[in-house]
Amino acid sequence: MTEQLIIFDTTLRDGEQSPGASMTKDEKVRIAKALERMRVDVIEAGFAIASKGDFEAVEAVAKAVKDSRICSLSRALDADIDRAGEALRPANASRIHTFIATSPIHMKMKLRMEPDQVIENAVRAVKRARQHTDDVEFSPEDAGRSDTDFLCRILEAVIDAGATTLNIPDTVGYNLPNQFGSLIGTLRERIPNADKAVFSVHCHNDLGLAVANSLSAVMNGARQVECTINGLGERAGNAALEEVVMAVRTRQDMFPCDTNIDTQHIVAASRLVSGVTGFLVQPNKAIVGANAFAHESGIHQDGVLKNRETYEIMRAEDVGWNTNRMVLGKHSGRNAFRSRLLELGIELDSEAELNAAFTRFKELADKKHEIYDEDLQALVSDVVAATDERISLVSMKVCSETGETPEASITLSVDGHERHTQTSGSGPVDAAFKAIESIVQSHTELQLYSVSNITTGTDAQGEVNVRLEKGGRIVSGQGADTDIVIASAKAYLNALNKILEPAERAHPQV
Ligand code: KIV
Ligand code: ZN
Repeated sequence: MTEQLIIFDTTLRDGEQSPGASMTKDEKVRIAKALERMRVDVIEAGFAIASKGDFEAVEAVAKAVKDSRICSLSRALDADIDRAGEALRPANASRIHTFIATSPIHMKMKLRMEPDQVIENAVRAVKRARQHTDDVEFSPEDAGRSDTDFLCRILEAVIDAGATTLNIPDTVGYNLPNQFGSLIGTLRERIPNADKAVFSVHCHNDLGLAVANSLSAVMNGARQVECTINGLGERAGNAALEEVVMAVRTRQDMFPCDTNIDTQHIVAASRLVSGVTGFLVQPNKAIVGANAFAHESGIHQDGVLKNRETYEIMRAEDVGWNTNRMVLGKHSGRNAFRSRLLELGIELDSEAELNAAFTRFKELADKKHEIYDEDLQALVSDVVAATDERISLVSMKVCSETGETPEASITLSVDGHERHTQTSGSGPVDAAFKAIESIVQSHTELQLYSVSNITTGTDAQGEVNVRLEKGGRIVSGQGADTDIVIASAKAYLNALNKILEPAERAHPQV
């Protein structure tokens, strides 16, 4: 009998800890719904005590998702645990994930606690979490650099206190596959009550080994993997969900377990996360990169045409490439539009949003004959982002001519009041950004500006990513349009709206 490998997705929590990857509540709900559709078992929706916004996002995900278990992170502190329990109240199935550091360096330098105090705090936290839910996960942070005897002691104690999942994090991505796998094997063997909990792993990718370490742990008895879409996460990121899931699925000859994931939704989820965060997927990224299934050399193409298994170990359509890319056009009606959105897993919150999206769709269809799924996804992101923005684009005119200095004339709505200005720049985008900045006076620094095409052809929409920094805080913004200067202005405004929001939020590990 194949055992179940639980997939715990932490895109919305650890993923969001990547500088610049912060997401709004609505964006988190959209991603959570995509994860639910993919049949992710547990969704870590955030760190409820971090801020009012984080609390509301966990609560909104707990309300919106019914088929996946919803989890909130909390330090081993009563206030954190109670806040997590409160945010999770609407969930059909909830989990509290509490953690405390166990490596000598973290206990001494960060916590300034003796090992026995750390055990006491861990046990108290797990007992308190059990008052909110019977599904409690405990993580000894920096387990990958912790003493094995100490890990055995603390893990035995938290199981007795009621922990149902023991998550072993390689917090700094320091471990090697053999070593990490045998750590899991040793813990399972040596902890007397190990059979009362599920062993989980949470690997960071600092040495590029997060997926390899996770798989090695699974071969040694771990039955939950914590991962993120596109491998998003703190520093070099976490283990990529799509890689873990497809490795286990493709190599069933090697694994005694499999996941419940519906792999056909992987590419759509990857695109959604990349669109929302502005973290582009490299073309050669396994499974979800644009070239992951492309065969360039003639020998490979010839082989694949004769028998695809000569060079392909997975089928592109099994992870959602090229599935039913139904094309809409200017004659498509509201119903076709709405049902295509639903097939793509996009549910808009209100009729007003659906109307706004349909109007944008008609405008786009006038400029571009065929509207692909990718166009719809970008269009909906734009409409949802614009819904409650303080600053929005009313109109814009940009002149660029050989031998002349480009000029941008722009009207913005700022808190409901129209403001207009005209500025020149070294190019049309520079002029537009300068015009916006002269109205908004944000004093932010532009860290990244990139343009990519959403589909092919010169009539394609351009998707612009902008990353802004102010006082150490980094946000990213996205915008899409067939006119890349307008797309640039939208992306810049999207980022400005985020950076102008007050964002006092605690980081769980600091
Ligand atoms: O990397 C880590 O240790 C974490 C814990 C909070 C599980 O993210
Ligand atoms: Zn982590």
